[in-house]
Amino acid sequence: MENQNKKKIRLVATGGTIASQARSRVSTEGYQASVISVEDLIAELPELNDIVEMSAEQIFLKPSSAITDEDLFHLSARVNELLASDECDGIVITHGTDTMEETAFFLNLTVNSPKPVVITGAMRPAHVISTDGLLNLYNAVCCAASDASYGMGVVISMNDLILSARDAVKFSSFKTDAFQAPLYGVLGTVRNANVTYCYKPLMRHTTTSEFAGAQYGKMPRVDVLYMLQGIDDMLFKAACAAGCKGIVSAGSGNGGVIGAIGKAYKEEFEAGKDELPVLVRSTRVCTGGVSDAYRMGNPKIIPSHDLNPHKAAILLRFALAKTNDPAEIKRIFEQY
Ligand code: SIN
Repeated sequence: MENQNKKKIRLVATGGTIASQARSRVSTEGYQASVISVEDLIAELPELNDIVEMSAEQIFLKPSSAITDEDLFHLSARVNELLASDECDGIVITHGTDTMEETAFFLNLTVNSPKPVVITGAMRPAHVISTDGLLNLYNAVCCAASDASYGMGVVISMNDLILSARDAVKFSSFKTDAFQAPLYGVLGTVRNANVTYCYKPLMRHTTTSEFAGAQYGKMPRVDVLYMLQGIDDMLFKAACAAGCKGIVSAGSGNGGVIGAIGKAYKEEFEAGKDELPVLVRSTRVCTGGVSDAYRMGNPKIIPSHDLNPHKAAILLRFALAKTNDPAEIKRIFEQY
């Protein structure tokens, strides 16, 4: 009876620094990565049982840099399966912070439920002094149990902030306030178990995503090319030779494609090569995105708008799994 009104929250653990063991109480680097099981993790937080009915599972235990497409589709299918049940009111996913943005955005496109999905992690390993993992986990559970999180899409909860999966960027490689949403800002906060939202994402996600529930066996190859002064066309040609269907340029400024690559792409377009990959212009600049300029009469050149190169690569792979029509791909980049 005690649990009658408590939300049923499922923790799905994947690994990362939040599941890592420090070498000593004062050592924040060189730790044993992704070794703490989900049972041991929640055993450290008995306070969770005061606020929710908590259950947990270990879907995998690996650093986030080792996560594959297969892992992501497996995770997405499991999240959808859990959320379809009345036995689950919301999900918390623990995850390494290095590629957290990518998993979050992937799930934002593929989760098929308005129920809360909250991703969290840690910048400092467990048992080091001032570790952030347990409070991040507690806050993420508060966030997943909040009615206000319903319909928000997948969110990241780190360092007392709530960020949309679409906008969140890892902004620091070592600070505990590692995640920010530089262009549009955070959605809300979690303070002392109080969840407050100020904004709601309007771009398509979860239940309004045409990719919700998608399970693609093999995703089309997309390569990201980082634009540098003086870069030649070697990587562009290698990507084409590897059969890539799309290229995202991490361009300079407003999505500038550096001379040699722009020239090689133009030549291939003018030669009428059917297999010419779509070129999505993103930017290596950390905020501001790119405008819909510089299409040079080529419908295959598409702006990423404000998606950074790694999120643009995810969206482009989903788009190409569905269509080769550049107008459709452009539409997808306008809506997500
Ligand atoms: C990882 O991404 O798995 C390691 C780094 C982290 O969790 O902060």
